[in-house]
Amino acid sequence: MSETATIIIEGKSYEYPVIVGSEGEKAVDTRNLRSDTGYITYDEGFANTGSCLSNITFIDGEKGILRYRGYPIEQLAKSSSFISSAYLIIYGELPTAQQREVFRERIRREASVNTGMNAMFDGFPARSHPMAILSAMMNSLGCYYPHMASNNREQDLEHFDEAAALLISKVRTIAAMSYRAEKGLPFVWPRPDLRYTANFLHMMFSEPYATYEPDEDTVEALDLFLLLHADHEQNCSTSTVRMVASSGANLFASVSAGVCGLWGPLHGGANAAVVKMLTEIHKDGDDGSRFIVAAKEGKARLMGFGHRVYKNFDPRAKILGKAVERVLSNMGRKDPLLDIAKHLEATALNDPYFIDRKLYPNVDFYSGLLLRAIGIPLDMFTVMFAIGRIPGWIANWREVAIAPKQKIYRPRQIFIGPEKRDPEEIS
Ligand code: CMC
Repeated sequence: MSETATIIIEGKSYEYPVIVGSEGEKAVDTRNLRSDTGYITYDEGFANTGSCLSNITFIDGEKGILRYRGYPIEQLAKSSSFISSAYLIIYGELPTAQQREVFRERIRREASVNTGMNAMFDGFPARSHPMAILSAMMNSLGCYYPHMASNNREQDLEHFDEAAALLISKVRTIAAMSYRAEKGLPFVWPRPDLRYTANFLHMMFSEPYATYEPDEDTVEALDLFLLLHADHEQNCSTSTVRMVASSGANLFASVSAGVCGLWGPLHGGANAAVVKMLTEIHKDGDDGSRFIVAAKEGKARLMGFGHRVYKNFDPRAKILGKAVERVLSNMGRKDPLLDIAKHLEATALNDPYFIDRKLYPNVDFYSGLLLRAIGIPLDMFTVMFAIGRIPGWIANWREVAIAPKQKIYRPRQIFIGPEKRDPEEIS
């Protein structure tokens, strides 16, 4: 017999079905609550609200588990690549060798952007933030490929494979261009002989007179970074993508909105905020001890710590912490900010303030240090997160688009403003 939950309102009982996920997660299906009772649920920040059924990513925040399509993140980090994991996230299965080659070839073909877009880059004022440029340019892709951005579900889905590969490919080119535009540097064309991540580094750092040759460790570390960011179920930016998609909007428009959602310091912007925080601590001659006291007094926030879902170690933070050490040691370099980060982590993990609130390092705690070690400039950190998250956004857009009966996302509110009143005089 399937389970139900009883809700008693004003003395009257109502039965609601219980939905059980494939990993045993339970939810009360309250879709008929308002029509049955006139009541709605109030859940600011949606901390207890399942906004969708999804089969892409599973997280158990209490146990520190993250899986893409059933595969543990640790195994993918060890044996897969960003592009294979992107395929997995979008299509549900790891690609065969042949499928991977077709996917890679599609991505390779789409690496350059229409030259009309160069003029758009020229229109942004100097020192524009690359996240602002990225979001604008992602949306403008719909102007260059209108047949993939028709806002007609069937038509947009017909072109889905093409649009997905195009986005994965061009986001990297646009990201590199936004960096070079900001710095007043000439754009660098993609190279068909390079793999995805190496090609990005080439477009970022090569010059017309000098080719940048990244070493294998750097490429591998950046590929790992991208893979670890590829999806994370219903976070702020992904839910934004789904919300925009639910109105019938095309993939480019939906993903462009996701970029904006990601930008804030409580979400993707945290990776840059962590490095800024560590730099300040270093400048102040603190080893992190004074900062921890300030965080406990509510005068500062320990960026890269805490998570809405993880109440245990974020498994990505563990992998990235080791990766930073490996990259720095391979380079024979030391980073004083890493020492401060390690001290902050050790102190916080033994401090009742952080223990009681279940605050652990999240993905952003070490990711900024990894990007810094491989030479990515600070204001590109969140852009790097966006490149990594593209497969997750695409997969979530598709899930909305193919759902047989997708309702538009339209939460309700509790109005607490003034009651009806009449103006004495309308001026
Ligand atoms: N430093 C100090 N105290 C904290 C922190 C922190 N980083 N995070 C939470 N707290 C405290 C908070 O002050 C509150 O204390 P109290 O109960 O005494 O008022 C308690 O812990 C609960 O915090 P909350 O803000 O209600 O928790 P939330 O689930 O709404 O927020 C969060 C989650 C990630 C926004 C928050 O932990 C935070 O601001 N962390 C720092 C920013 C950060 O690293 N963001 C990246 C998140 S991971 C990557 C991603 O998915 O984007």
